[in-house]
Amino acid sequence: MDFSTLQTVRVERENGTTFVTLNRPEKRNAMSPQLHFEMVDVLKELAEDEDTRVVVLTGAGDSWCAGQDIQLFFRDLDDKPKQRYLARLANHEWRWSLLSTFPKPTIAMVNGYCFGGAFVQLFACDFAIAADDAQFGLSEVNWGILPGGLVGKVIMDGLSYRDAVWYAMTGEPFDGKKAAEIRLINKSVPRDRLRAETMALAESLAKKNPQTLRTIKESLRMVRGMSIDQAADYLLAKEREMRFLDPESGRAKAMKQFLDDKTYRPGMGEYKRDQT
Ligand code: ACO
Repeated sequence: MDFSTLQTVRVERENGTTFVTLNRPEKRNAMSPQLHFEMVDVLKELAEDEDTRVVVLTGAGDSWCAGQDIQLFFRDLDDKPKQRYLARLANHEWRWSLLSTFPKPTIAMVNGYCFGGAFVQLFACDFAIAADDAQFGLSEVNWGILPGGLVGKVIMDGLSYRDAVWYAMTGEPFDGKKAAEIRLINKSVPRDRLRAETMALAESLAKKNPQTLRTIKESLRMVRGMSIDQAADYLLAKEREMRFLDPESGRAKAMKQFLDDKTYRPGMGEYKRDQT
């Protein structure tokens, strides 16, 4: 895929970490139908891209994403059922279907505004780090709609009941520090440290066995909706699947290094992937 032809998304690779940047800074990276279509293509392309070990989702300028584009995604499509249908499909496909099941680790690097619909991709990412002064808000209530399009679901699953209802009903904005306090994100850092902190996390993930990471994220997301018995059986099957699929036989290698060679401590870091 030729990323240079994209108009609303930027893709840049840096030592195994691929930055995917929503790129409509003049509209605070609000999501237009075109952005949804382009993101579907980008994520499909990067899923099996050999140069991408970790994906970082961020925004151009001083905004992460100002939610759906109220003009282009809503008003302009109100009387165009077919375009609206296709835009809604793409919108759901990249923000949830593709991103939440992405086969590699994903990090939301929240560099500024994060409003409304942007919460879906925030929760779809495995990790989230924000600038201390980023601004978050469930602003739907402020313009007479509900947090739909999965927002209501992800906040009820991912936040405490009290916080989800508070922010959905008041629309009150809050900063990165508060977002970390309520565990909407992993942590917030001073703005000038945001990229370095994100890269440090990405680089630590890139050192780990990719098949193991993929199986862990798939498994953790799936067991949430299962009974204890289903989860026990499913996790056993995933463990066996991982051993079968892992091209570097990580489990056997790790056991040898710990039990036989005594060259590493699993509690303190990963096994030496470049050794037998
Ligand atoms: N949809 C469409 N256009 C948007 C959106 C949006 N969600 N957000 C910003 N823009 C546009 C503005 O209309 C403006 O366009 P213009 O220059 O052509 O007039 C431009 O982006 C810059 O916006 P300003 O408001 O001038 O920028 P400022 O930095 O002062 O404020 C802020 C940024 C706080 C993000 C403000 O634009 C805002 O409140 N946007 C709406 C955020 C929101 O509620 N999103 C949820 C939408 S609902 C949903 O996602 C389901």
